[in-house]
Amino acid sequence: MKYHFRLKSLNTFSINVFAKNIVTAHNEHTLLQFWKKAYNKGEPVLILGGGSNILFLENYIGTILLNRIKGVFITENKIAWRLHVGAGERWDELVVYTIHKNIPGLENLACIPGCVGAAPIQNIGAYGIELSQICEYVDVIDLYSEKKIRFTCAECDFKYRNSIFRDCLKRYVVVFVGLRLLKNWKPILNYSGLSHLNKYHITSRQIFNVVRRIRHKKLPDPVLVGNAGSFFKNPIIDIKMAACLFQNYPNIPYYYQKDGRIKLSAGWLIEHCRLKGCVFGEAAIYPRQALVLINTRKIATGTEIAALALYVYNKVADKFKIYLQPEVRLIGSNGEINPKKLFV
Ligand code: FAD
Ligand code: EPU
Repeated sequence: MKYHFRLKSLNTFSINVFAKNIVTAHNEHTLLQFWKKAYNKGEPVLILGGGSNILFLENYIGTILLNRIKGVFITENKIAWRLHVGAGERWDELVVYTIHKNIPGLENLACIPGCVGAAPIQNIGAYGIELSQICEYVDVIDLYSEKKIRFTCAECDFKYRNSIFRDCLKRYVVVFVGLRLLKNWKPILNYSGLSHLNKYHITSRQIFNVVRRIRHKKLPDPVLVGNAGSFFKNPIIDIKMAACLFQNYPNIPYYYQKDGRIKLSAGWLIEHCRLKGCVFGEAAIYPRQALVLINTRKIATGTEIAALALYVYNKVADKFKIYLQPEVRLIGSNGEINPKKLFV
């Protein structure tokens, strides 16, 4: 089979793989038509936004369907602004747009690459806030029934880097996301890098600027260096296990979860395996943030990155008995690969 369509510019890891076909949908009707055409031929389809949370391991034998449904529709009442946003809008452009329109609420989520449609899938989060806190609903197309369904925020079952959609991507395509931003805005400054700010004299624009500065210092720009942000999720462990760890590592950073469990920093665990800056062929660990794997010269293969990830996984497992799980989705020749097959 011939693969004509290059995917290098469609994934932020800059992996140089090819697909059999690439199509772009600008509305729900064409999106469904494209999907049905491929489905009827028995070919796999991968819906893609900005390609900033995936790792291609090999060429893709099916159709890459770029969701580019656009539109930002804003209404307001006394209490809140409501935004109905097309899945194909760029998340960061949406944040900038709201800041310019003096609509606060998205500032902590500045500079996250990718599209609005992917935001609910892993419940994007950064600097003290998650999408779940501002999401009112998610509109999807059920590809099998061809019906449009609205999931309320509660129905999305958002959790840390998780939602009802994460494991249902063969069935649902996100087409619009509804956000609700309160007029009675309160700054969220609980992230350590923001806690020095004065909560009584701060604007959303100022927070936006601080977040941008922190991110530019810590995270590599995918334009220059291939990466997909944090490769692994921060592990959440039970209190008993945490107590054992605290005895051996009293300085380990940790965060209490609502359910009483403890979230650890995967970056800290990786750094304490002395892996920061480690180079593995063309793949490497970002020297300024150990949780980020990089394709330094943009010539690494997906399997090189995955091999480094596996090395990190094994090192952390050996030292701490903690089994990291990837946040990034691994894509094989005909679709997503269950990470449990690799990270066991
Ligand atoms: P893609 O990579 O295109 O897709 C991800 C998955 O979602 C794929 O399985 C795809 O099939 C599916 N998908 C995409 N769109 C749709 C749709 N409309 N309907 C159904 N399925 C769909 N994430 C955070 O949470 N917080 C951060 O702070 C953060 N920082 C980052 C920094 C950098 C430098 C990078 C490169 C990434 C970062 N990320 C972060 C990860 C990433 O940006 C987010 O997960 C983002 O939401 C992914 O969007 P995307 O459009 O690129 O998704
Ligand atoms: N740390 C280290 N060494 C490192 C990296 C981190 O010791 O190399 C420790 C430090 O103690 C630091 C703590 O880990 O204080 C937390 O680090 P950081 O604030 O950079 O956040 P993170 O937990 O590594 C998470 C998200 C990021 C998000 C930031 C900011 C995950 C998997 N990652 O990273 O999201 O931007 O918090 O809120 O939850 C992404 O998902 O792709 C992503 C970039």
